[in-house]
Amino acid sequence: MRVLVFGKSGQVATELDKYDETTCLDRAAADLASPAACAEVVANCEADVIINAAAYTAVDDAESDEITATMVNATSVRMMAEAAAHRDIPFIHISTDYVFDGSGTDPWTTEDFPAPLGAYGRTKYKGEQGIVDAGGRYGILRTSWVFSAHGNNFVKTMLRLGGERDALSIVDDQIGGPTAAHDIASALMVMAQAYYEGMGPNGVYHFSGEPDASWADFATEIFDQSDLNVNITRIPSEKFPTPAPRPLNSRMDCETTRQTFGIYRPNWRDSLKIVLDELNADKG
Ligand SMILES: NC(=O)c1ccc[n+]([C@@H]2O[C@H](COP(=O)([O-])OP(=O)(O)OC[C@H]3O[C@@H](n4cnc5c(N)ncnc54)[C@H](OP(=O)(O)O)[C@@H]3O)[C@@H](O)[C@H]2O)c1
Repeated sequence: MRVLVFGKSGQVATELDKYDETTCLDRAAADLASPAACAEVVANCEADVIINAAAYTAVDDAESDEITATMVNATSVRMMAEAAAHRDIPFIHISTDYVFDGSGTDPWTTEDFPAPLGAYGRTKYKGEQGIVDAGGRYGILRTSWVFSAHGNNFVKTMLRLGGERDALSIVDDQIGGPTAAHDIASALMVMAQAYYEGMGPNGVYHFSGEPDASWADFATEIFDQSDLNVNITRIPSEKFPTPAPRPLNSRMDCETTRQTFGIYRPNWRDSLKIVLDELNADKG
């Protein structure tokens, strides 16, 4: 199986790059701000399956630059999916819990209707719709709260702040599933194999680490596993305003993903240990 991956340096793309079956394209090889060029790459590639792991992920910046975010997260995605459909190549795409408005406390199912709160979520949802409309074979994996030893993420921010301060205020009313990039990559490769074998049904799937937790719970575990002594004050989101509003409820029902692909929710505490070990190995 030959898997062409859009993205190379991102958290998930870095993990996909570790598989022998993948060829990962960086921004110089495929700039998603140029939709026609990306469609051209798909039209001429020799892949059996395509995974799109590139995206405009700067949630707050998207509020003031929705045009670029739309180009990268929606226009390019639609044109790549159309080019893949034309050649009957399965197109696997990563989406987000931010397509939901965060209301209620029940886990979101794949049947629930998206209602994004901000520009980033809107552009990601448009990307999903473009893939469905393209009419080819596809799988959309919505995930949440991604962390890894690479790039910018909550774990690395907490390690930095925890090394500088002995007390922090952390949001405690947003609940979701922290998800390691290496677990997402593994899930994507299982899906890729299924589509390659003609067995993956078209659809939207949910995938996040368990158990669901708040950012404060996540920070507590990061500090515990890192032997950092930090006093955490649990605060509501309104005390930590951001340009883009965040959904309070990011719990996702991942049952369809298990039933369809045999992919289980990974325990994020175990995955955190792997990431911390990787960061420690890099240090020294
Ligand atoms: N991070 C999260 O917490 C989170 C949560 C839910 C869903 N997701 C979704 O998961 C997927 C992977 O996210 P991630 O955390 O791995 O993202 P990331 O670490 O922010 O990486 C994004 C990747 O996209 C690439 N990219 C951005 N603009 C591009 C462009 N114009 N052309 C080509 N490449 C471009 C970046 O390349 P450069 O390195 O060149 O900038 C980078 O490789 C995305 O679809 C994201 O929406 C993420």
